[in-house]
Amino acid sequence: MKILNASGCLDALAASEVARSLDAFVSKTITPLPREGNAPVRIAETEAGMLNSIGLANPGRERFLSDALPRLRGLGVPLWISVGGFTASDYAETCAALEHVTVELNLSCPNVEEAADTAAAIVAACREATQLPLYVKLSPANWDIAEVARAVEAAGADGLSLVNTIRGLKLDDRTLEPVLGRAVGGYSGPALKPIALAAVYACAGAVALPIVAMGGIRTGRDVVEFVAAGACDVALGTVLFADPGAPDRVREELAAEIAALGVASVDNIRGSALANPHPRLEVHAS
Ligand SMILES: Cc1cc2nc3c(=O)[nH]c(=O)nc-3n(C[C@H](O)[C@H](O)[C@H](O)COP(=O)(O)O)c2cc1C
Repeated sequence: MKILNASGCLDALAASEVARSLDAFVSKTITPLPREGNAPVRIAETEAGMLNSIGLANPGRERFLSDALPRLRGLGVPLWISVGGFTASDYAETCAALEHVTVELNLSCPNVEEAADTAAAIVAACREATQLPLYVKLSPANWDIAEVARAVEAAGADGLSLVNTIRGLKLDDRTLEPVLGRAVGGYSGPALKPIALAAVYACAGAVALPIVAMGGIRTGRDVVEFVAAGACDVALGTVLFADPGAPDRVREELAAEIAALGVASVDNIRGSALANPHPRLEVHAS
């Protein structure tokens, strides 16, 4: 079981020690052209999570490939590159320009329809463009996320990243106006956990693809729950802003959880929450 960061939640070049404490580093989403991102305010805290409307700010594909990527390789951790775009060819062209990385297709970009057929068309175009491992990141706003998962599996995806943020709104206490410059933003953190768990559970029951789970993961116990729901690996997002030491802490907590469960490895509990798990949780009498 690997611990990654969630895309957009860690600047690996500014915080290289944190990046090196991960099993792989996932880049912020890269689009073909540079994007300034949305007007401020871009971040707002709420009772049980965080809202962001960063708007996929990034230097664009060419500058990322020539400037950031060589420096990221210097970190010595496996790299996942999050690829965004607005058409299937946007995604496919970036995939074709990459080598020696895992690709995470962010199918939750603004203006990119996430209907199952659209998602499948993007994955099929990327599958033709590259032999690299292709993970597909889906939005929990999909009412039938399992259907999208089946469609992207059929189109050639190698894995799923579940989930991206869900739309949320915060109003100013005094003015009752939206706090974020764009009014609505992506909601992440603890409140997302049950939603993300349900998405992992639904997809693990529907497809054979490995799943990287994210959404409100803060503790070793959270990891146990996501693995029980069918995840293979996990990613830490919002928690990294408050606790950059979270990867090592979560690993330690996970070791204690595994010992308490009496299993040899967290992999032994994978899918134990599913109706027909593979394999079933075997709690050793000790
Ligand atoms: C500030 C911020 C920026 C993000 N940027 C991206 C991004 O560029 N691409 C992406 O796929 N997800 C992005 N996400 C979503 C996270 O990768 C993750 O899916 C989500 O936050 C849920 O995990 P968490 O609750 O642990 O944060 C961003 C999240 C936050 C909070």
